[in-house]
Amino acid sequence: MTVRCDRTPAWQELRKHFDATAPRFDLREAFEGDAQRFEHFSQEAPQVFADLSKNLIDAKAEQLLFTLARECGLQARIEAMFGGEHINATEDRAVMHYLLRAKTAARGLATELAQVHSTLDAMLAYADAVRADHTITDVVNIGIGGSDLGPQMAVLALDEFVAPGKRFHFVSNVDGHELDGVLEGLAPEHTLFLIASKTFTTAETMANAHSAKRWYEQSGGTDIARHFAALTTNVEAARAFSIDTTFGFWDWVGGRYSMWSAIGLPLALATGSQGFRAFLEGARAMDEHFRSAPLEQNLPVRLGLLDVWYRNFHRFTSRSIAPYHSGLKRLPAYLQQLEMESNGKQVDLDGQPLPYGTSPVLWGEPGTNGQHAYFQMLHQGTDVVPLEFLAVRDAAHDLPGHHPKLLANALAQAQALMQGKRDQDGHRNFPGNRPSTFFVLERLTPESLGAFVALYEHRVFTSGALWGINSFDQWGVELGKVLARDIEPRLASGDTAGLDASTAGLLARLRQR
Ligand code: F6P
Repeated sequence: MTVRCDRTPAWQELRKHFDATAPRFDLREAFEGDAQRFEHFSQEAPQVFADLSKNLIDAKAEQLLFTLARECGLQARIEAMFGGEHINATEDRAVMHYLLRAKTAARGLATELAQVHSTLDAMLAYADAVRADHTITDVVNIGIGGSDLGPQMAVLALDEFVAPGKRFHFVSNVDGHELDGVLEGLAPEHTLFLIASKTFTTAETMANAHSAKRWYEQSGGTDIARHFAALTTNVEAARAFSIDTTFGFWDWVGGRYSMWSAIGLPLALATGSQGFRAFLEGARAMDEHFRSAPLEQNLPVRLGLLDVWYRNFHRFTSRSIAPYHSGLKRLPAYLQQLEMESNGKQVDLDGQPLPYGTSPVLWGEPGTNGQHAYFQMLHQGTDVVPLEFLAVRDAAHDLPGHHPKLLANALAQAQALMQGKRDQDGHRNFPGNRPSTFFVLERLTPESLGAFVALYEHRVFTSGALWGINSFDQWGVELGKVLARDIEPRLASGDTAGLDASTAGLLARLRQR
């Protein structure tokens, strides 16, 4: 049984503690007053080290947050997920993406686990065969949201492990400029299209898939079975589209949690079965950590609780992430869907409006690029935005001097945010006391990337559980889709009947020649 966070005694205690201490809390003093602060607020987890000590939190607040987690029934909620309960209540579905990387499963989930392994084996055998097939030089993934962002992010991030001789392209937008630009450089006999869609109904993906197929046939291609594969839970729809090569998954895998399923095929093609298995392995180690580490040493839990502290007590509305690795340039976009589509909710599990904030806005760019763009606001702006650094200790290149410069910048920015710099001239004054979290991976490998993504999944689970929301549905994306279907024919006909004045005016303007 879970209890909403604001209905617990710990919530009231946290409020009191916040009011009594937060206005005067100063990170610089906190470090001066506690020689163990770094040790206390840092955490080793599988493949990931995290320093949380530069956050606006003291030991008592963290203790109260652990109590809050207990009073909310977080552990029971975790076990409900790992036990296959239908915690996605509005869709009456289990939430079992962890099963995609599991070796064993709870009683009652043996059939699902066997299906996972036989599909994985088939998909990886296919991936290795395509890797060995030198006539296929280009792989085009057509999918959007969870069917695009994860594999795209991971293939870019793991470039070091990508087999030479294959290029990967990702087409998501219904904007034809994207597909057109990709098709321009392709030859049908050397191209493999992956149509990635959990539902196989998403308008953008279907439009792109139809156009790709038309292009393939018009360019002389005749072997759809060899040049198209579908990654979907809706195998019948893929067959109806005349794609026979299909890799399935299940409704208990949410779109934004699907990179570990057949949706991960681009990554398997890029890094081989070995790479993909290592990616799953990294995530599995994080699953075990999340499930078994005591709350006090549980990194996803500590992060999720910090998120609640920041959102509901400090009332920060946004958080930024700066991966100090150019290969991770799509990580912020990936995490944005993971966190904002999961926790951007305004009602609790009973459908009652929430009296507190939920998902922050998550955004970011790789460092050091962001330093020369928006870091100004992070250092001297009027709003406090907690920043997360992700640094990788060992580089995969051997260009002298670059990596120490990169790491020095990450450390220096975190230091500058915290320490600030006093200056009589207000323009040159840095207030400091600005919070950050610092993650360290030893190397960027399939395993460490898998662990880091799973860490985020469980962190989002933790804050969502405390907020008492359903982190696994996404009804908020529906209305716009329905309205777009109504508007599309009006662009051709010019019919504005029943439209509001602004939409009608814009439609008319877009039709004007
Ligand atoms: O519209 C939102 C959404 O449903 C996401 O949740 C999902 O990842 C994306 O669209 C793509 O859906 P599908 O994989 O079914 O094409």
